[in-house]
Amino acid sequence: MNRSVLTVGDLSADEIGDVLDRAQDSKRQGRREGAQLAGKTALLIFQKPSLRTRVSFELAVTNLGGRALYLSPPEVGLGERESPEDVGGVAGRFCDLIICRTFDQNNLDRLAASSGVPVVNALSDWEHPCQALADVLTIREHGGTSGRTVTYVGDGNNVARSLAVAAAGEGMHVRIASPLGYELDAESVAAASRRADMSGGSVSTMSDPVEAVHGADVVYTDTWTSMGQELEAKRRLEAFTGYQVDARLVGSASPGASVMHCLPAHRGEEITDDVLDGPQSVVLDQAENRLHAQQALLAWMFE
Ligand code: CP
Ligand code: NVA
Repeated sequence: MNRSVLTVGDLSADEIGDVLDRAQDSKRQGRREGAQLAGKTALLIFQKPSLRTRVSFELAVTNLGGRALYLSPPEVGLGERESPEDVGGVAGRFCDLIICRTFDQNNLDRLAASSGVPVVNALSDWEHPCQALADVLTIREHGGTSGRTVTYVGDGNNVARSLAVAAAGEGMHVRIASPLGYELDAESVAAASRRADMSGGSVSTMSDPVEAVHGADVVYTDTWTSMGQELEAKRRLEAFTGYQVDARLVGSASPGASVMHCLPAHRGEEITDDVLDGPQSVVLDQAENRLHAQQALLAWMFE
């Protein structure tokens, strides 16, 4: 099937459930999947740096019998050297799948419209859908999803947006605490709430991190300054004062709550070393699950 995954909303809650069931199965069986990408080539077009996303996608493609080609940030000049339509049209003649990390979500829409092959969002300024798949998989493994509470503390950014929709679809109670001016936009909150209405979950936003974390089963944070926002770093550091995930804040969550971070972390800013490296942290499972979740997603897409 020619399905692109540009946002979490491109997958229904049931489809996410199926992909994650499949990821859990293949993880238990030692990473064996079929050869859904045999003879196929995936082109990775990355406009920003990456450790987890690049490695996990290259491995996933290889494990499914395919071949991955990586183009680094200076190489393609998506939207600068060449229009997304021209890049998409050419890439679609060479390759069977495009995996793209970019700034503007619009670049992904334009690639998908012009390439004739599936496009997967490997992070944009708007969403990080594959991260959210791995996040929900990790929560499933650490106590389960339905009826439990995940609190996201920090910037209402790409990671928060994708997580809210994916977790709400699994029946979770999603709370998001952000300072004024950095909240998740109302449309994304509404999209997550619609999923929650169907699944028995809920979505709430607030400004007080202590109230948001109180009794939570999962405490999640991400950097206050995302890639491309470096010039705003000083202003953001000030705006997010009081939003650091430290031992005191985690202490108000439910006992044994999981601590999550998509990484890379700005240690000492949004999260302290003792929490990130502490016994409640599941960040390495989260990172590993990028592979399992994406492998299952690609297998499902190319079945
Ligand atoms: N979490 C994540 O996307 O990491 P990378 O930027 O290293 O790919
Ligand atoms: N919000 C971060 C996530 C990095 C994986 C960013 O976009 O830089």
